[in-house]
Amino acid sequence: MSTADQPVIELRKVTRRFGRQLVLDAIDLAVERGRNTVIIGRSGTGKSVLLKHIVGLLRPNRGEVYFEGRRIDTLGEHDLTPIRMQISFVFQLNALFDSMTVLENVEFPMVENGRQRLDRKGIRELAHRCLAVVGMDGFEHKRPGELSGGEKKRVAIARAIAMEPPPKVILYDEPTAGLDPQRADVINKLVRQMQRDFKVTGVVVTHDMKSAQEVGDRILMLHHGKFIAEGTPEEIMASREPHVRNFVQGVADPDDIDTLR
Ligand SMILES: Nc1ncnc2c1ncn2[C@@H]1O[C@H](COP(=O)(O)OP(=O)(O)OP(=O)(O)O)[C@@H](O)[C@H]1O
Ligand SMILES: [Mg+2]
Repeated sequence: MSTADQPVIELRKVTRRFGRQLVLDAIDLAVERGRNTVIIGRSGTGKSVLLKHIVGLLRPNRGEVYFEGRRIDTLGEHDLTPIRMQISFVFQLNALFDSMTVLENVEFPMVENGRQRLDRKGIRELAHRCLAVVGMDGFEHKRPGELSGGEKKRVAIARAIAMEPPPKVILYDEPTAGLDPQRADVINKLVRQMQRDFKVTGVVVTHDMKSAQEVGDRILMLHHGKFIAEGTPEEIMASREPHVRNFVQGVADPDDIDTLR
């Protein structure tokens, strides 16, 4: 298999439990290079848990995780560092430092990891450029506490892209959660822009179907530890699978009623 056809990320039969709770049940996933893969599913199904397995923040109980054909779930923290320099994570709650300015937040990962090719001046310039890409130039000296939800998300995306070389993959955990439709649209467009302009492969976790359709080339639905559907946005929207239909239509799923009380 040539590198071009090889999935960037692959999960093989990944199982993850927390105590007696089975969250991921022998999950297989192959993330294609250059495309945006979207994972949908109701709250608490394990979407964030799945993303954390991709960067080694969580380890499977069983199964394997690969990055560009190399097994990574068995690597120690030290050997994971070069992998983590190629995969950025936009966290569900942004994970910005309130004590730092916007500019310092974007610089922070580059300053922290000693392997960065850039010197201090280069880091500053790249941080400014990345803030401009997401339309946040002029906000460099504000602190996260002074920003709106959409602005914080844009800073988190600027930080994700601020690497030299740029990351190969960005994992977005609920990038539009809590945003009004106009601000969500800005973020959806940014996710597409990262794919187009930086050739980034995206993995997007969301329960926002509009966002899933706009950013996704392919959508998978996680339900009770398994992927129960996979297809293009059009195929998922037209799916006759009952759980997928309920999700797409925003209707309570009989399976989940007890947890929705
Ligand atoms: N570190 C942990 N220790 C114990 N249980 C955990 C841990 N992380 C997640 N869980 C449990 O695993 C399940 C899946 O959590 P996860 O955060 O992946 O859900 P999610 O699909 O991302 O939900 P949401 O859409 O609300 O963000 C939840 O029931 C959660 O309580
Ligand atoms: Mg989550």
